[in-house]
Amino acid sequence: MEPVIPDLRSVPRDDAYAQLLSIQQLVLADSDDIIAGMATTSALLHHAFGYLWTGFYRVVEPGAMLRVGPYQGSLGCQDIAFGRGVCGTAAADRRTVVVPDVHTFPGHIACDARSRSEIVVPVFDSTGALIAVLDIDSAEPNAFGDADQRGLEQLMAWFGRTTYVLSPA
Ligand code: SME
Repeated sequence: MEPVIPDLRSVPRDDAYAQLLSIQQLVLADSDDIIAGMATTSALLHHAFGYLWTGFYRVVEPGAMLRVGPYQGSLGCQDIAFGRGVCGTAAADRRTVVVPDVHTFPGHIACDARSRSEIVVPVFDSTGALIAVLDIDSAEPNAFGDADQRGLEQLMAWFGRTTYVLSPA
């Protein structure tokens, strides 16, 4: 049986991410399937912290286009160009972008009017190529701090541990 997702909203963030990393590694220990990894990670983060939207945008044209991947939450935009919105900025710059107040971010793409703050973390494969970004939207303003950036970047580093199988050989 799979472990239950703990409610980590009142747990100190560094401890919370350490727990999530252990669960992620336990559940996906024998998996080299990137869709399974993205779906599992989305479910873990979304339900542990009670976010509005948690999921991945995949690089479908390197340097040019992202497309929605596994996620939890209401409908997300389908395609986002590099450089557009928070996701496109993180992809173009290959760095984590934290937005404490989405209303002040120029070009923010509002898929859900309730979204108040956001973090987007790049995901690299073992060669250093950008393969996706992790996008998390919160209904709370200023929901993401240094501990979130640190914990999420650590979780995403897990994705770089292997060469993923995208489709059956
Ligand atoms: N907020 C994102 C768009 C993605 S949806 O909100 C899921 C952005 O500006 O990149």
